[in-house]
Amino acid sequence: VSDSPLTARRISADGPIGVFDSGMGGLSVAKPLLERLPHETLLYVGDTANLPFGPKSIETVRQISLEICDFLIREGAKLVIIACNTATAAGLAACQEAFPDVPILGMVTPGVRAALAATRGGGIAVVGTLGTITSGEVERAIRAQDASVRIVARENEDLLRLAEQGGGDNPALLHQLAEASIPPALADGADTLLLACTDYTCIRSAVDAVVPSGVIVIDPAEAVVDEAAALLLARGLARTTPDPPRHRFCVTDPLAVPQFRDHARAAFGIEIGHLESIILPARRERMTV
Ligand code: DGL
Repeated sequence: VSDSPLTARRISADGPIGVFDSGMGGLSVAKPLLERLPHETLLYVGDTANLPFGPKSIETVRQISLEICDFLIREGAKLVIIACNTATAAGLAACQEAFPDVPILGMVTPGVRAALAATRGGGIAVVGTLGTITSGEVERAIRAQDASVRIVARENEDLLRLAEQGGGDNPALLHQLAEASIPPALADGADTLLLACTDYTCIRSAVDAVVPSGVIVIDPAEAVVDEAAALLLARGLARTTPDPPRHRFCVTDPLAVPQFRDHARAAFGIEIGHLESIILPARRERMTV
């Protein structure tokens, strides 16, 4: 990862908002971002060459996050959104430290804030990838705000593997995995369910089908977009160019191209004309050594 003066350059309000995830889960943030900030340019990276992040070590996901941030900032990003809870838990602090001149937002803080605002005292159930849950970051963030909240945190990798394929093609299996993993997280009486993985958005109806009525389900995507919009306004970084934005969507494994495009359309209604297949600079450098 570069420590060149690149990081010290001035941020341009006309630069893109960089958004990344291991795959298409981050489109759950890209979608409201495009709707709410239609003048902004989006630069999206789905690191499909490294999908899934969930079962990888924190160190590995941190390194991956640094490489993607480096790419987005080299490409002129004025703001980076880590649209992945696993990468936020593993890499947000490291990315903020490595690139201090560019604001970088993650999923955990906005999600926790929304969950704390929603709970009526029954407690918060947190579901996410193995990496997110074992990092303890979400629990720590909740406790830092309110040490008295009851928290149940559970990984559900099996369900999330299906989610990242848009739910897969077996609805019965999807329901079975949702039933096996979501209600047990709520068994302790939690009144709020924090979806601490952006891939849940792709299977939201399967999740809602197994959540008892009365439980509030929190998808942090909107809260992250609120934060991004407020930040751009506060720092005078809203895009001013009158011509329409030219968004870029990239994946890091060429084989992922057709599937990513299909899922973006089916799960999010996002039409991606040209989907780029890229190799991140840090990885290219390693390949040529
Ligand atoms: N979308 C990611 C998250 O929010 C992780 C999915 C994966 O395991 O790659 O945690």
